[in-house]
Amino acid sequence: MPVQQPGGRGRPSPGRGGRRGESRLMVEQVFADVAAGRAGVLLVDGEAGIGRTTFLHEAAELARSMGFQVASGRCHPQEMDLPLGLVRQAFDSLHIGDIASELPWLAEGLEGAHVSSPALLGVLIELYRTLEQMTSRSPLLIVVDDLQWCDEASLRALGRFAHEGAPPFPLAVVAAVRIDDVAGHPAAFEDATAHLPRTRLTGLASGEVEAMVRDVFPEEPHPDFVDTCRRVTAGNPTLLRALLQELVHQGVSPADATTSVLAHAPESTARDALARIDRLGPDAATLAKAVALLGDGAELDRAARVAGLPYDQALVAVDALCGAGVLSNDYRLTFRHAVVGSALARFLPVGTVTMLRVPRTEDPLRGRRRVRARRWRSVAWEGSVSGGPASSWIWRN
Ligand SMILES: Nc1ncnc2c1ncn2[C@@H]1O[C@H](COP(=O)(O)OP(=O)(O)O)[C@@H](O)[C@H]1O
Ligand SMILES: [Mg+2]
Repeated sequence: MPVQQPGGRGRPSPGRGGRRGESRLMVEQVFADVAAGRAGVLLVDGEAGIGRTTFLHEAAELARSMGFQVASGRCHPQEMDLPLGLVRQAFDSLHIGDIASELPWLAEGLEGAHVSSPALLGVLIELYRTLEQMTSRSPLLIVVDDLQWCDEASLRALGRFAHEGAPPFPLAVVAAVRIDDVAGHPAAFEDATAHLPRTRLTGLASGEVEAMVRDVFPEEPHPDFVDTCRRVTAGNPTLLRALLQELVHQGVSPADATTSVLAHAPESTARDALARIDRLGPDAATLAKAVALLGDGAELDRAARVAGLPYDQALVAVDALCGAGVLSNDYRLTFRHAVVGSALARFLPVGTVTMLRVPRTEDPLRGRRRVRARRWRSVAWEGSVSGGPASSWIWRN
């Protein structure tokens, strides 16, 4: 099958400026090398919801338009311990028929492949031969989503790129990785990926945010409204979409530059954020809730006190939250995405708020609540944070 160069007929319109454009150029370079007969690999990383899966779909579309065969696989946390699970998925996606008769080496490997056994080495050698044979017809792209959850044996296969150099046949591997989650097999993941070329997807550029705003609102948006939407979501398309939907639902006009966008931070964003921070452990979850309550710019020792955590323990929690892309610690604690902090503040579950310790002298809501008990005793407050729904919370120090 003739191989077209990137940019030839059938190429999807780039339409994506800024740093996303750079990531796209890197994919095009890999495909150009592969079309010229050399193998290439690229990791595409980014935070949750930033558009990695979408990017992989576009890469696959581009590869098809260049005459590549395309195989794909997606790693899942529940399948991290299935040896060769990703390799199997990739071959399944090519519809090669019955694995046992078509690729007996893979079937055997699936039965008994243990990562450190010589059997696995045999499987990897057969895999190499099979790929060489397949790519003699036309180049092959393997796209892998959520590589951070890859099984160990498939990581060993990918590691060949890192340790033995690119094979001399037209094979491309483009794999997406989340930067805000811990790999299922950290050592094998590091070994396989540490030296591979990498590109990072960052937030949407202004023009892309404006296009999304125009998509949902019939009115002409005010430039400040667009800027605010971009700033509070850091251009994360998932957060932006949820926010825009809520703003539409609340009948907010994008023509009004004075609209308090954060006052409409959506409940779905709070729910997603709570699920993520809860996975980081009780200290991190409590600290994040304390920062949400105190508002962006909280000092660590103050947040620690409100969370009821010793300073050292709070430091560890902050590290986890920063590593997971929830908080930034730039002398003061801020939410990486302001919309997440506001959504959490609006929709903090009653049960968790009762666990926070807010001395009245430091209570960010002082003056906005009705005190029903003496200082240092439990008090009840009925009201809302950031104009959220009315709720009744018990506070105690
Ligand atoms: N460049 C983009 N412009 C607008 N929306 C986008 C863009 N990239 C992704 N999206 C949207 O953002 C959401 C999340 O994208 P997805 O690719 O699933 O992210 P990830 O895989 O990083 O979690 C989807 O609704 C997708 O349609
Ligand atoms: Mg995804």
